[in-house]
Amino acid sequence: MPTKVAVVTGSNKGIGLSIVKGLCKRFDGVVYLTSRDVSRGKAAVEKLNAEGLFPEFHQLDVTDRKSVERFRDHIKEKYDGIDILINNAGVSGGLNSANYDECKSIININFNSILILEELIFPLVRDNGRILNISSDCGHLSNIRNKYWIEQLSSKDIKMDDILRFVDWFLQSVKDNTFNKQDIADGGTVAAYRVAKVALSAATIVQQRELDKRNISINSMHPGLVRTDMTTGIGFYSADEAAKTPIYLVLDAPASLKGAYIWHDGKVLDWYDYNADYYFKISTVLDHLQKKV
Ligand SMILES: NC(=O)c1ccc[n+]([C@@H]2O[C@H](COP(=O)([O-])OP(=O)(O)OC[C@H]3O[C@@H](n4cnc5c(N)ncnc54)[C@H](OP(=O)(O)O)[C@@H]3O)[C@@H](O)[C@H]2O)c1
Repeated sequence: MPTKVAVVTGSNKGIGLSIVKGLCKRFDGVVYLTSRDVSRGKAAVEKLNAEGLFPEFHQLDVTDRKSVERFRDHIKEKYDGIDILINNAGVSGGLNSANYDECKSIININFNSILILEELIFPLVRDNGRILNISSDCGHLSNIRNKYWIEQLSSKDIKMDDILRFVDWFLQSVKDNTFNKQDIADGGTVAAYRVAKVALSAATIVQQRELDKRNISINSMHPGLVRTDMTTGIGFYSADEAAKTPIYLVLDAPASLKGAYIWHDGKVLDWYDYNADYYFKISTVLDHLQKKV
């Protein structure tokens, strides 16, 4: 029997680090803590070592093709495959509206990276393996208000090209100053992050179709509002609490759960319900902040 392997991207801190911690305690195999920055990654490993947990480490910048290739070659040579892949690396870009370059970067890290991983790392995922894309409440379709894109993204035979068109449409509108705030929920706030995460959750559905042949499950999820650097420490849950559902999804959930969008409490939601109240609201953060003061 080959050694089982689990990989978590962006896991030097926050939810990713807590997922690695939880997997080290329960997963019957090797767990990879990966980080774009070697010193931050190694420091995180040392922290876990002090707790009696021993993940392996490898550098991995999910936006850097060369870095992903190096990681692929390392895994190929050492273990020849991956059983669990958690695509957790992400950035939100803060609550203020972003300029074109910032929007591009947010989309690059949260969404374009998944296309590089799909090409280079998914082929290493073994038959019957599990992949989890960490999305957000910003990734539910109800974040989109533009009728044309709701229709396109709701199509049951949506293709990756349609999702790329959606992302391009948004970026182009920011570039030429025609972005209409009404096209995105909550007055167009954190628009780039919403577009990136909606694209990620939509891509999960497309990727599941492809991975069905090898009985690999791929789902996307919202981890909750979590106290990490991303939220400047604001949130209802600690990173360890937020890691519970991702760990459940890759270790315990029925293998029949495929191409789904899952809430932080483990509930499977209808991603297509564009009228639902699942979209992110800035007021949730502001209310929470006020209560803390
Ligand atoms: N916290 C929340 O309330 C919340 C809510 C919804 C969704 N999420 C999602 O949950 C995931 C984890 O977020 P978090 O709250 O744990 O944030 P975090 O504490 O800021 O951690 C983000 C992690 O992603 C890494 N990362 C960023 N860009 C990367 C790249 N190009 N390559 C590899 N790693 C990269 C960061 O590395 P560095 O240390 O090098 O920056 C860090 O390890 C993200 O996908 C986020 O969108 C979080």
